[in-house]
Amino acid sequence: MTKNELKHWVAALPKVELHLHIEGSLEPDLMMALAGKHQVKLPYANIEEVKKAYNFEDLQSFLDLYYFGASVLKDEDDFYQLMWNYLLRCKQDNVVHAEIMFDPQTHTERGIGFDIFMPGFKRAIQQAQQEWGQSCFLIMSFLRHLTEQSAIETLDSARPYLDDITAVGLDSSELGNPPEKFTQVFKMAQELGLKRVAHAGEEGPAEYVWGALKALDVHRIDHGVRSIEDPKLIAFLIQSQHPLTVCPLSNTKLKVFEHMHQHNVLELLELGLMATINADDPSYFGGYLNDNFFAIIDHLPIEKHQLYQLIKNSFNASFMPTEHKLDWLEKLSAY
Ligand code: ADE
Ligand code: ZN
Repeated sequence: MTKNELKHWVAALPKVELHLHIEGSLEPDLMMALAGKHQVKLPYANIEEVKKAYNFEDLQSFLDLYYFGASVLKDEDDFYQLMWNYLLRCKQDNVVHAEIMFDPQTHTERGIGFDIFMPGFKRAIQQAQQEWGQSCFLIMSFLRHLTEQSAIETLDSARPYLDDITAVGLDSSELGNPPEKFTQVFKMAQELGLKRVAHAGEEGPAEYVWGALKALDVHRIDHGVRSIEDPKLIAFLIQSQHPLTVCPLSNTKLKVFEHMHQHNVLELLELGLMATINADDPSYFGGYLNDNFFAIIDHLPIEKHQLYQLIKNSFNASFMPTEHKLDWLEKLSAY
């Protein structure tokens, strides 16, 4: 198959997305429209200027813009529109199931509570479910640059909404904020029946991946590409089959890898790790799920069976009930 044929084939397959920050899907046109609606002053005159600002040196330089961008999200309808736009994209990209992260503290710190964003998210999810059978779970992520006490308060505020939340996660500035800082709140989440994921080994060292596994008892590692630096960790991940939600365009935009041809996802897959492909923050990093697949097709010597394995891994790594998983895996094998 040519690269173009591989791209068409991947685009048509049913897929799962496991690492997507809803605030990172805020496109410049919606950002500008909401800034106008709420009279928020942005340092950009137009959409082109917003896009030009998306040149990042590292994770922190991105996060500064990402939190600033989120400040235009104010009312229930804004959160509905944000979620709805992403779900339309899922339909277009054949993403049949998505496990979507949201950062409550990005909003509660601005005085916007669960009673505003949760109904907005829920309305969009229910509409997509009714209109085309979209399947979705929500992952509530704690901001690791804030204190564990703030995460505990966030978990407390989420109590009335736990029926709509599948898992907790950990994101934001990784270096200097190791997983162990959140041991207690993850334990509390576990006791509430929530699944657990954490960003680790994106900019932080392999040691942080160990921390997420041991102190937070996570089901999946978000990113995890720096695991490769620790052979004992790689051996563990091969044996345990903890999934890694890898985000190729994010990693090159944030300079975890200088160029896509240096990306290690194919190496991780070939070693036998449970690697998956995801978009992270598609509006900021230049593409949605299919675009991430297209980028690795363009720049890595990846073959059809390896792409198939990555897609199959995402179904297996999801929190879907087993019977749904088996249904989808059967449909997938028909391709
Ligand atoms: N929040 C949104 N995207 C993130 C990323 N790639 N790493 C850490 N925190 C994030
Ligand atoms: Zn992320």
